[in-house]
Amino acid sequence: MTDLISLYEARIADGTLTRDDAQEAVLPQFERIRAALSKPVKRGLFRKAPPPPKGLYLWGGVGRGKSMLMDMFVDTLGNIPARRVHFHAFMQEIHAGMHKARQQNVEDALAPVAKEVVNSVRLLAFDEMQITDITDAMIVGRLFDLLHEGGVVVVTTSNRHPDDLYKDGLNRQLFLPFIAHIKEQLQVWELVSPTDYRQNRLEGAPVYFTPIGPEARQKIREVWTDLAGGPADPLVLHVKGRAVELPAFRNGVARASFYDLCGRMLGPGDYLAVAEEVKVLVLEDIPRLSRNNFNEAKRFVTLIDALYEARVRLICSAAAEPEMLYVEGEGTFEFERTASRLREMQDQDWGRQGR
Ligand SMILES: Nc1ncnc2c1ncn2[C@@H]1O[C@H](COP(=O)(O)OP(=O)(O)O)[C@@H](O)[C@H]1O
Ligand SMILES: [Mg+2]
Repeated sequence: MTDLISLYEARIADGTLTRDDAQEAVLPQFERIRAALSKPVKRGLFRKAPPPPKGLYLWGGVGRGKSMLMDMFVDTLGNIPARRVHFHAFMQEIHAGMHKARQQNVEDALAPVAKEVVNSVRLLAFDEMQITDITDAMIVGRLFDLLHEGGVVVVTTSNRHPDDLYKDGLNRQLFLPFIAHIKEQLQVWELVSPTDYRQNRLEGAPVYFTPIGPEARQKIREVWTDLAGGPADPLVLHVKGRAVELPAFRNGVARASFYDLCGRMLGPGDYLAVAEEVKVLVLEDIPRLSRNNFNEAKRFVTLIDALYEARVRLICSAAAEPEMLYVEGEGTFEFERTASRLREMQDQDWGRQGR
């Protein structure tokens, strides 16, 4: 088994990674946690769980390598029970568990759910902690207290400083104890690397593949493997009671087919939620559009508008060049804007600002 510092050095030596001072500076923080977790735990029948070491709250701009370092860290944990999970997905599990407990008339529904987590892991690695939902905001404080009491250490990535979590959210004063918990139990660390590696990886690389066929499919697979950097899970976004599913999601990169996103009854709110959540969307198999698939075409226009506004990176395979995707039928005029946006989004500087 290797430690994170050696693993990082090895990746630099084999050329997979470029040395980055800001990244190197945070490695001992991870190692501190690993060292503490490597000590055997004496957990007797009457003994309370030992207090976990301070966790780590790693925040900073996009593409700095936060998720990558956290993933590499989890890979070095060996047989220490750990789980890496997208923060959203984790909170959805918690809510589902609480729902079940309530159906069994458990009064304090959070306690058994937290207990289950405590019994299964010693470390939780959350990717992209972000709190936008009041139902999350109102339970995270106590949830994290229970996890801490149970001896679970939390490592998380985030785009914001803890003080900016759930900013302007409803009943924010009830959320403040959570911020206090984070500052007390987690080392807050900003990763101030000047390099956005995700942009660098995409620099100059083609992002629009046409026609659809084995070659485009292969290229898309390569880009996806490179950007996702590991096994992906589905991500379910809850929008006004509806579930919008992205079949594969990892590291801010989502992969879906045209029919996953435009073949279903989804609307602007759903696409805004997708655009809010993902930094790069890999969209496969955009067909030729016409009056025969007018509804799909309309949804595609809405999707592209949402991605465009949020400056999401789009990598796609399509039956034709943007200008030739929709050449007959109602709406061709409106599609000109979409075609032009699809062009603009291929620019290598696209997405650099603001995200
Ligand atoms: N030092 C580095 N050298 C080369 N590539 C890197 C380096 N750090 C990160 N990357 C790559 O850059 C991309 C973005 O990193 P990621 O961890 O997803 O960023 P963040 O989570 O901070 O947004 C990933 O594909 C990652 O493998
Ligand atoms: Mg990330």
